[in-house]
Amino acid sequence: MNFGKVAVLLGGKSAERKISLMSGNGVLKALRAKGVDAHPFDPAQRELAELKREGFARCFVALHGRGGEDGTLQGALEYLGIPYTGSGVLASALALDKVRSKRLWAAEGLPTAEHVLLHEKISFPAVAKRLGMPLFVKPASEGSSVGMTKVRAAGGLKKAYKLAARHDAVVIAEKFIDGPELTGAILGERVLPLIRIETPREFYDYQAKYFADDTRYLIPSGLPKKKENQLQALCLKAFHALGCQGWGRVDLMLDRRGRPYLLEINTSPGMTGHSLVPMAARAVGLSYADLCIRILELAHVG
Ligand SMILES: Nc1ncnc2c1ncn2[C@@H]1O[C@H](COP(=O)(O)OP(=O)(O)O)[C@@H](O)[C@H]1O
Ligand SMILES: [Mg+2]
Repeated sequence: MNFGKVAVLLGGKSAERKISLMSGNGVLKALRAKGVDAHPFDPAQRELAELKREGFARCFVALHGRGGEDGTLQGALEYLGIPYTGSGVLASALALDKVRSKRLWAAEGLPTAEHVLLHEKISFPAVAKRLGMPLFVKPASEGSSVGMTKVRAAGGLKKAYKLAARHDAVVIAEKFIDGPELTGAILGERVLPLIRIETPREFYDYQAKYFADDTRYLIPSGLPKKKENQLQALCLKAFHALGCQGWGRVDLMLDRRGRPYLLEINTSPGMTGHSLVPMAARAVGLSYADLCIRILELAHVG
């Protein structure tokens, strides 16, 4: 397939800028190695309108977080009429917002952990009582575990709220899910083998995600085949419930009894050499470069 001149969008202004630079540079290198006329483009340094003026025919979105993964960039690309990878405007915006994602899943009968919206005047002891301990506090629209706390005692809830509130006006407390953590990469209509994530740390936090060498990734996940298939089907339903397209990654956890709970969907997941989607792709014989090409093929506009 001849893609024409391709812009790899990377960097950006979000808290995940650094990760995006790693993702984007990996993608850029891989696309070039496959003979694609690919160029880096950092929206933090240049105006998006230049994409049109410079004759880019397609964009590979390797931005993470706000301004890149939240629908705003997607809207701009729609306006410019340039096909781009991944989910569209609405699905991107919904997926970056954990509260709206959870509401939609609940409306579709899909499982997600119980949560409470926090605010300055809420009764923190009442929230602690309702959700139990420990619990998770998170900004509704961040990624990479930024601003997130695992709260172990009711007394720590307010402090955790204040930390999360520095990152987002909307903060939630979520019931703690005590079982294994999994992630399901989606490519087109296909759910790749699930990856089971294990960390000796408090949870899969920023360090565990990008720097720790004691995070373990199990693929195959070790789940019985039937369970794996059921969870893969759940991932695809969760993806469709938000209207996601192209590719993405569904984060979920199981409780002690093996019941699943959806955490969130990443519509522009990490694409560094150590990232999870490339890892899942490798497990089905798809190289990093082939994965990049496949994602680019699925680019769309409207
Ligand atoms: N309700 C929960 N119970 C237990 N662990 C959780 C819960 N929510 C999040 N976590 C942990 O925090 C990590 C990040 O949470 P997630 O909702 O995926 O946000 P992010 O957008 O930062 O990746 C998860 O990968 C998991 O390890
Ligand atoms: Mg996550």
